[in-house]
Amino acid sequence: MTKTILTTQDVHKIYGEKTEKPYEALKGISFSVEEGEFVGIMGASGSGKTTLLNILATLDQPTSGQVAIDGKDVTKLRPNQMADFRSQKLGFIFQDFNLVETLTARENIALPLSLQNAKPKAIKVAVELAAKKVNIEDIIDKFPNQLSGGQKQRVAAARALVAEPSIIFGDEPTGALDSNNAREMMDALTDINSQGVSILLVTHDPFSASFCKRIMFIKDGKIGDEISAEGKSRQDFYQEILNRLGTFEQ
Ligand SMILES: Nc1ncnc2c1ncn2[C@@H]1O[C@H](COP(=O)(O)OP(=O)(O)O)[C@@H](O)[C@H]1O
Ligand SMILES: [Mg+2]
Repeated sequence: MTKTILTTQDVHKIYGEKTEKPYEALKGISFSVEEGEFVGIMGASGSGKTTLLNILATLDQPTSGQVAIDGKDVTKLRPNQMADFRSQKLGFIFQDFNLVETLTARENIALPLSLQNAKPKAIKVAVELAAKKVNIEDIIDKFPNQLSGGQKQRVAAARALVAEPSIIFGDEPTGALDSNNAREMMDALTDINSQGVSILLVTHDPFSASFCKRIMFIKDGKIGDEISAEGKSRQDFYQEILNRLGTFEQ
């Protein structure tokens, strides 16, 4: 039996609600993610991807609607509960890495556990395991400015995974990478997912999206239809995404 890890119910987001020019960026978003899924949300620039992800990640509040993660309505948490929930249940990978430049990769990966006051021994074990999962054991004692973009993003992936979150969110995680590094990053996320970690990625990039197992398309703040990679090679799924975007963008 699979377990539902995330549900959204009729989520709306209006920016500038009390101004003369309110803007409705999300117009009723409803979907679910099951445990262990690797889901992509694709849409053009301005379609509402980051708005949606920030709400799912408890970094922003919806104007109306519900978001439940691991059975908990996250829109009803108080600010301090929200911070705890975020550090215990969620992992994040952003386009621009968000690593702390003055800390080594090892220390960056350890951050979520340090914030939870985990014991040094437990931190060391967990950090090395996470580093192994994304294949960066050899660079773990380097500083971010000694790393390539692809290595930095895998450090960010290890950090996202170290506290064993219920789900990892990525916002255009390959957006700042060249195609080789993007491929390595997506291979690393595929490995992580195959070990049972749920991942939700928003992207406008068909190549990155082709690694997902299911893709929902968002346009003008609404989710249209979705496609599944089941039974398809990654190359065929990539082609399907390209075809789909061709009709969707018009
Ligand atoms: N803080 C904000 N205030 C007003 N409008 C915003 C704000 N953030 C985003 N928007 C608008 O909401 C829409 C969706 O933005 P966003 O979620 O960033 O899209 P995407 O990530 O898909 O490019 C865009 O039209 C954008 O201009
Ligand atoms: Mg965005």
